Amino acid sequence: MLYDIINAAIFLLILFGVSQHHRRLRHANLMRFCFVLDLALLVVVEFFRDKPSAVVKAMDTVAHVADTNVILVIHIGFSVLVLVLWVVQLVSGTKVLNGQSGRLPMHAMWAKWFLLVRAGNVITAFMV
Ligand code: HEM
Repeated sequence: MLYDIINAAIFLLILFGVSQHHRRLRHANLMRFCFVLDLALLVVVEFFRDKPSAVVKAMDTVAHVADTNVILVIHIGFSVLVLVLWVVQLVSGTKVLNGQSGRLPMHAMWAKWFLLVRAGNVITAFMV
């Protein structure tokens, strides 16, 4: 539960970071900081938490197909997608920051998907 609340808090910080996009450098630094927080939370939850991690639970699910936990599978799907979209946004954001303003429409488009998927991650985290 504590980790789910921290996860939701990082999401709120991401929303704040997005709201600051007109102040380019502040936006970029806030988003990079949120990425580091997201990665740190993932590492702590997967490797240092005493109860079985989501991935361990998912592997158990695969081994016992009959009682598949659909929400867990969806949650892991969201989490993997979030990581992919982080990379997409870090790369395109850095290019925009370096003067390639032609990349901005793609950055804005993927931002919407990122926020949708990240919200899905927060909601399903409370459900598993
Ligand atoms: C998931 C992470 C991110 C999200 C959701 C996000 C979202 C956004 C959004 C919604 C905009 C406004 C687009 C528009 O005005 O059409 C924007 C602009 C921008 N972003 Fe990001 N961003 C993210 C990460 C980053 C990162 C990591 C960097 C840099 C390293 C960055 C650099 C920029 C720059 C330079 C702009 C243009 C600012 C402006 O002139 O308005 N972004 N971002």
